[in-house]
Amino acid sequence: MKRITVALLAGAAVLGTQANAAPKVPREPRTVVQVCSQCHGDRGLSTSPLFPNLAAQNKQYLVTQLKDFRDHKRGDPHAQAYMWGMAGRLTDSVIERVATYFSALPAPPGDKTQNAAELAAGKEIFEKGIASEQVPACAACHGATGAGSATIPRLAGQHREYLATQLLAFRDNERRNNIMHANVVHITDQQIRDISAYLASL
Ligand code: HEC
Ligand code: HEC
Repeated sequence: MKRITVALLAGAAVLGTQANAAPKVPREPRTVVQVCSQCHGDRGLSTSPLFPNLAAQNKQYLVTQLKDFRDHKRGDPHAQAYMWGMAGRLTDSVIERVATYFSALPAPPGDKTQNAAELAAGKEIFEKGIASEQVPACAACHGATGAGSATIPRLAGQHREYLATQLLAFRDNERRNNIMHANVVHITDQQIRDISAYLASL
């Protein structure tokens, strides 16, 4: 119990200060999940739209991201501020078990309150891409329903603000990924809003 309290306080400190100092995250998976839930919510449905839902996210993708945070390979500002410390002490086997847990939870329900014009424009980009801006159809990799596959993330039902932040980070090369950078390098801010609204609604 003592370890949990310490870890939760450390999590709260990160929230308050966005400190880079590695909080003391315990290694035992059940306790680890309790720490993660402070931000990613009960059953992987996060409360702040800047914290991604983890419920039903694909397991292999979760494993890769956690190792990338731990090894400082995913280095966009929120990754550094929130996740470098959290993943810093996780072993490969704990990562495997935590990823199994979150991937098995029921998928987020989707936020149906999005703006109709943005939804329509976002659906068009997701299904067909934007030929004039060399943006490919997202569905080609992320699947017709946005569920992704083993290594490709689920996007359906993810928070709109989180999605938009990631797309900006890929576009501006803060979150370094050659595939996603090439996909969205020419996309506009409004197109990012459209596509994020659509995906959040699924
Ligand atoms: C203090 C809040 C906080 C805590 C506690 C926290 N996270 Fe995070 N997590 C974040 C934020 C913020 C992001 C988004 C980072 C970004 O924008 O790049 C994130 C991103 C992630 C991602 C990437 C998801 C994706 O779709 O790419 C995974 C996986 C993750 N966290 C797992 C965990 C696990 C496992 C724990 C517990 C060991 C944990 N997090 C604890 C705030 C937190
Ligand atoms: C060629 C395959 C491919 C295409 C096409 C593609 N993606 Fe991706 N996408 C990926 C891969 C692979 C990742 C994981 C990158 C990583 O590991 O950081 C990803 C990651 C993402 C993420 C991060 C999700 C998270 O949970 O952090 C978002 C958002 C995203 N893609 C949106 C899009 C959108 C919008 C489009 C269409 C404009 C698109 N993708 C087209 C392969 C693709």
